[in-house]
Amino acid sequence: MKTIKAMKYTKWIVILFCLLGMAACRQDAPRFRIGVAQCSDDSWRHKMNDEILREAMFYDGVSVEIRSAGDDNRRQAEDVHYFIDKGVDLLIISANEAAPMTPIVEEAYQKGIPVVLVDRKILSDKYTAYIGADNYEIGRAVGNYIASSLKGKGNVVELTGLGGSTPAMERHQGFMAAISNFPDVKLIDKADAAWERGPAEVAMDSMLRRNPKIDAVYAHNDRIAPGAYQAAKKVGREKEMMFVGIDALPGKGNGLELVLDSVLDATFIYPTNGDKVLQLAMNILEKKTYPRETVMNTAVVDRTNAHVMQLQTTHISELDQKIETLNGRIGGYLSRVATQQVVMYGGLVILLLVAGLLLVVYKSLRSKNRLNKELSEQKRQLEEQRDILEEQRDKLEEQRDKLEEQRDQLIQLSHQLEEATHAKLVFFTNISHDFRTPLTLVADPVEHLLADNTLSGDQHRMLMLIQRNVNILLRLVNQILDFRKYENGKMEYTPVPVDILSSFEGWNESFLAAARKKHIHFSFDNMPDTDFHTLADIEKLERIYFNLLSNAFKFTPENGKVTVRLASLMKEGSQWIRFTVTNTGSMISAEHIRSIFERFYKIDMHHAGSGIGLALVKAFVELHGGTISVESDEKQGTVFTVDLPVQACIYETSSLEGSPASSVSEASPLNDALPIEEEELEKNYDSSKPSVLIIDDNADIRSYVHGLLHTDYTVIEAADGSEGIRKAMKYVPDLIISDVMMPGIDGIECCRRLKSELQTCHIPVILLTACSLDEQRIQGYDGGADSYISKPFSSQLLLARVRNLIDSHRRLKQFFGDGQTLAKEDVCDMDKDFVEKFKTLIDAKMGDSGLNVEDLGKDMGLSRVQLYRKIKSLTNYSPNELLRIARLKKAASLLASSDMTVAEIGYEVGFSSPSYFTKCYKEQFGESPTDLLKRKG
Ligand code: FRU
Repeated sequence: MKTIKAMKYTKWIVILFCLLGMAACRQDAPRFRIGVAQCSDDSWRHKMNDEILREAMFYDGVSVEIRSAGDDNRRQAEDVHYFIDKGVDLLIISANEAAPMTPIVEEAYQKGIPVVLVDRKILSDKYTAYIGADNYEIGRAVGNYIASSLKGKGNVVELTGLGGSTPAMERHQGFMAAISNFPDVKLIDKADAAWERGPAEVAMDSMLRRNPKIDAVYAHNDRIAPGAYQAAKKVGREKEMMFVGIDALPGKGNGLELVLDSVLDATFIYPTNGDKVLQLAMNILEKKTYPRETVMNTAVVDRTNAHVMQLQTTHISELDQKIETLNGRIGGYLSRVATQQVVMYGGLVILLLVAGLLLVVYKSLRSKNRLNKELSEQKRQLEEQRDILEEQRDKLEEQRDKLEEQRDQLIQLSHQLEEATHAKLVFFTNISHDFRTPLTLVADPVEHLLADNTLSGDQHRMLMLIQRNVNILLRLVNQILDFRKYENGKMEYTPVPVDILSSFEGWNESFLAAARKKHIHFSFDNMPDTDFHTLADIEKLERIYFNLLSNAFKFTPENGKVTVRLASLMKEGSQWIRFTVTNTGSMISAEHIRSIFERFYKIDMHHAGSGIGLALVKAFVELHGGTISVESDEKQGTVFTVDLPVQACIYETSSLEGSPASSVSEASPLNDALPIEEEELEKNYDSSKPSVLIIDDNADIRSYVHGLLHTDYTVIEAADGSEGIRKAMKYVPDLIISDVMMPGIDGIECCRRLKSELQTCHIPVILLTACSLDEQRIQGYDGGADSYISKPFSSQLLLARVRNLIDSHRRLKQFFGDGQTLAKEDVCDMDKDFVEKFKTLIDAKMGDSGLNVEDLGKDMGLSRVQLYRKIKSLTNYSPNELLRIARLKKAASLLASSDMTVAEIGYEVGFSSPSYFTKCYKEQFGESPTDLLKRKG
């Protein structure tokens, strides 16, 4: 936006600059351009040229360019063309020779350029104006002068100008006309001297030789005349004759001086009149009236008037000189004026430029101020938002901590629940064992009694009732025992080739009576032309089927429907058998459906049963590598769907025992014991309780110690030294109990390694051993063990030792957490170094407001979790809390000792905003930083 504005201003300034520049240069563009094509280059021409230029100064905007052809027709033609091409407004031409120059002059004239002929003419009337003396008249005046000087008798020789030029022609004609009146005056010889002295001398030389008596020499100009005089003087005849020339120019070596020096007897004025030539040209250009022909007068100069003439011409030339000087001064003045004008215009431009720039700067400053204001407002809003976000982040972190705590508690609860369930199962198992013998002892006699035909009808009915209920009890007891077996991974799986279709059809008969009794419509559909042969544990399959159908009949009201469908399908490229058991009239809510297969889960008090039946069904289905699911809605009722993979019947019946089970059980997740154990540990890890790692290769010992500790501690188990080290690194427990004698890495080595690792060196280790030899004890302490207990040990002693070690470590944590130094005797060197390093790191980096635990962990060579557990275990504070406390303590000391403002101190110690700093400070110290400053005074 700003750039566009600046560009706009700059554009206007440039335009202004150009206009002013043009105005400053205006006077340089001429109004009229005049070209002068002179035929010769001599003093007469120089005088005329000077007069033209001098006169031009009196006109505004006139430029005059003069070119001289040096008596050469071709050069003069070029000069005329040059002026035509240049586009002059007017041409002044003195034609070298009339004939060759006529077409050139006509060309210029026909192109519309006004042409002024001076002194010499052409052979055409295609010109604008002529100005010059009357050469015929001059010739005549010379003729009369010579004739009268010779008193009407004598021989005359004539030396002419260039034969083709009109003055030469006319001067001759005028002369001849004059002497024709004097019969005794004779022109005895004539030669072309081409207006110059050299050719004149040569021509005169030969004429002297040819003519013994010459009385007068008629020279066409004052350069030819001294040439002739010189030739006569050479032969001593100069006194015999008179010499007459034309031009009568003043100045050294010119006609006037030659007369005064008695070289010439007379000369006739041939006026240059350059001033008049230019005046005529200007009249034409300025469209004023002008004469087409201007004829200038002539006069004779001889000894009688030469002196006066010289005085006059000297005076004139002095005046001319003065005019020149004046002109020079005027020129100087004009050029100064022009310079001053340029300077003035330039100054004006610069002034305007500066004014324009000032305007731009002023406008940009104004918009900058406005932007600054907007920016600071935005910054303030952003800072507010950042404060809010930081506060929210802290709150979220707190919430996360709380949630993690709750999760741990939930895990703990579920763990406890699991344990309760387990205990229930153990209890039921034990009870079931106890029940089975007496129940068998009841069932067997009842069977015997029922075989007695002498029984009365009532007795028989009662005994049947007893038998039915004993069977129910036995079934329940067996279910519990089976489930226990399943949970312990001891349930057998004995697959045999089974035709599921015929098996189901057979088993269906058992339910026909129930169907009839409750008026339930029982139907069985199977996919026609389908092979339902597979390998299955027939007994467990039967229990699955009976359980599902019994439930269906149990929960279907009178006149309801129970439907079984049997089908075959393809899943992920393999063959499966699916059967569904559907019953109407009962509806299980979504909430119950989720847990229906959990053991001991009962929908409500109205649903009878132990709650183990469906859990067992699920277990049996999974034993076959299958799946079971349930859906329930009011429209279709409740549908149980069982999918079983079809297994090819490649085994002989006799060889089925044991081995085939492995193919199924291998796929079963039950065998994947180790990962599940660790996964469960992760899930159940209760970080609110201190944790103890038990390393022992004896499962009974582990289980015993686990039993002792699990109420107060989170217990982690490891079956050997290397697993122990791995888990210690992973969980960083609060205490480790390790057996000494173990295969692989023994307890002492294990302890030594743990104490040499940064992550674990702070963890107290209790070594347990069956051997109480002093030597081993010493080895144990050398390895860094914190305590040593010999087997058999008293559980009280172990518990007390565990508690003491953890407590003393806690005290240490609290001590350090208060910000003091470590208790030297209680902490290993590595931990002291670690803590010192961490403190130094915090000190060095606290100024960085973006610093986080991840970064700190990286600098300390630990993961975020490892650093958290290590720091928490050593100091009772999380790394974040320590960082904040360190920042606030540093801030407190700066407040007390420096002159920095509250905001500066906040930034200095790494708070990203002063307001958030003030808030945290107040929370930590109970007063705001400003209160402290006030107190400080
Ligand atoms: C100068 C000049 C004069 C002469 C005139 C004739 O160039 O030679 O001496 O009078 O030209 O055109």
